[in-house]
This record gives sequence, C-alpha cells and structure tokens, in this order.
Amino acid sequence: MDPGDNPARPGPGVRLCALAEIADPGGKGFRFRVEGRIFAGFIVRKGELLKSYVDSCPHAGWPLATFDDRYLTRDAGYILCTGHGGLFTLEGQGATNPCIGTHLTPWPVAVRDGDIFTA
Ligand code: FES
Repeated sequence: MDPGDNPARPGPGVRLCALAEIADPGGKGFRFRVEGRIFAGFIVRKGELLKSYVDSCPHAGWPLATFDDRYLTRDAGYILCTGHGGLFTLEGQGATNPCIGTHLTPWPVAVRDGDIFTA
C-alpha cells in the first residue's frame, strides 16, 4: 500500500517536537493513530544534518527501532533497522544486506523557530 494513502499520516504544519528534544547525534520516533491505522515516522539528527523518514523498513516493513528511539548505530554513522540488522546511510540508502538497493521513504519536516513541523 502506498504510505501516502494512510489516513493517520499527519498533514503539513503539525508540530512534532522541539529540535532540542532530539539528541545530537540521535533520533526520535513519532506515532499517529487514526481510525485504527497507524503512521510511524522518525527523525535522525547529527550536527547540522536532520533527516526524516517513514518508520518502515523496506525489507519487511517493520519499524526500524523497537525501543528507546535508537535509530542510529553506536557511532552514529548509520541508521539501524533492528529487525534484521540492516544499515542505511543517513541519506536513507540501504548500505548492508538485506537492504542494499533499497531506500527509506522520506517524510518531509521543517524546522521553524527551534521547533520541528511536518512539511
Ligand atoms: S525489517 Fe529491517 S532489516 Fe529486515
């Protein structure tokens, strides 16, 4: 199913959190529920870099982090899917099996006055 068809996906302009609430480096997941559907997205931060994706691994569709917003590897060099250990670059490109050749789906966000909003 096209993730854009999910009624739980928030429209533009929804405040997600303050930028300061995301560790540097670190990540944070977000969940929205509407009519029994769930939309999951996450943001990773490393210095000036802020990237955001739909929280669904292209390998099996599982959320990437199962607890504690641990989306990044220990050295913050990659995004980690805990399902089967797939690694992605911070740009969302699959870097190891089983995710080579895949890409995380971008989830656009914008920073305004120190807060992060859906875009
Ligand atoms: S679900 Fe992500 S690597 Fe398998």
